[in-house]
Amino acid sequence: MRKREVAIIGVGQTKVGEHWDKSIRQLAAEAILSAIKDAKIERVDILYVGNALSGELALQEHLGAAIADFAGLRTVEAYKVEAAGASGAAALRLGYLAVAGGLADFVLVCGVEKVTDAPTERVNSALSLGIDGEYERELGLSFIALNALIMRRYMHEYGYELKDFAGFSVNSHKNAAHNPYAMFRNPITEKAFVEARMVVEPINLLDSSPVADGAAAVVLCPMDMAKDFQAKPVRIASSAAATDTLALHDRKDPLFLEAAYLSARRAYEVAGIKPEDVDLFELYDSFAIMAALSLEAAGFAERGQGVKLAMEGQISLDGRIPVSTMGGLKARGNPLGATGVYQVVEAVLQLRHEAGQNQVKDAHWALVQSIGGVGGTVVTHVLEGPD
Ligand code: COA
Repeated sequence: MRKREVAIIGVGQTKVGEHWDKSIRQLAAEAILSAIKDAKIERVDILYVGNALSGELALQEHLGAAIADFAGLRTVEAYKVEAAGASGAAALRLGYLAVAGGLADFVLVCGVEKVTDAPTERVNSALSLGIDGEYERELGLSFIALNALIMRRYMHEYGYELKDFAGFSVNSHKNAAHNPYAMFRNPITEKAFVEARMVVEPINLLDSSPVADGAAAVVLCPMDMAKDFQAKPVRIASSAAATDTLALHDRKDPLFLEAAYLSARRAYEVAGIKPEDVDLFELYDSFAIMAALSLEAAGFAERGQGVKLAMEGQISLDGRIPVSTMGGLKARGNPLGATGVYQVVEAVLQLRHEAGQNQVKDAHWALVQSIGGVGGTVVTHVLEGPD
């Protein structure tokens, strides 16, 4: 079977934050209708909904049908796709496969999450459903605690201090200041980072990506039809995914994200590019340690050197490899199952040169990577701009 080229012809998003006045269906519909308007399509063949915790925290499963109905897409084939924090990216990958394989022409991919009606303790306990349940959660480990263990080990192995990680959050908050959809638009300083309240040592409040509500959507179609709908179609140059052990304790090396490495390697290979060709990297900065390990796994830094890119300012909008260009998970906010789609929407805006004050100059290639759990699932896409 010959593979078809796939384009993103429409994007939509809601503001990330605490949406107590909106239901999960309302949030999803808002993003979907705005993506349909951007793409100017009149037909949808399949809807994939990326979501992690709707059953636990929004008390709604069977999300495909629920959202299709509410968004005016009644009768359209529709499914929920779940892979913890990589749910939205996994939904995009399924949409890509359907269009590339010639089984659908117009696919809508929506990521949505609605969690803030529940108190923090309940959200954190729901989040831990994405880690290994039989050994790690059973021992009382949480998602944030696993990240703290990895960070502490990284600091020990490579000799870093807490302040060395500040650059990631400072960069994210700076970029979010100009993103009207971001949750935290206040700049922060290295001093504020170092002095922030500890959550699980050494991870503090200003290192944690805030779990929030939000929805984002993209419309896909075959590249050869794209120009009929969108003057600036963005090509999905490659789509790749890999898994790793769900449990951290099963890894030979807890400081290496193997699924991130494998999916990035495959994504580069299919797109025919190298790390040095990438103009921006929307990485999964759920915590600074994940950002550092992603930079290493995706070939931007040697082992143990990912943090240095932040320390040296190389991740800023005019740096060697701009990351979290619209605020990242840390400051745009982290609506879990929606996050992977937000990352793609932001990369598309960069490649269409519609990122306003955050525009990365001459952006043409974007790498987008989403991480489920502590790297149990990683999905990587390479996007190519229209010019
Ligand atoms: N970054 C910056 N500020 C934050 C923040 C964050 N991540 N989280 C909360 N705040 C701010 C709030 O805006 C609030 O400010 P205000 O007092 O000026 O209104 C204040 O801190 C307290 O907020 P609150 O929601 O009561 O904090 P909390 O203690 O209940 O929860 C965390 C904070 C970090 C413990 C909680 O958000 C958490 O555990 N999140 C999970 C983090 C995680 O696992 N992320 C990755 C998922 S993949």
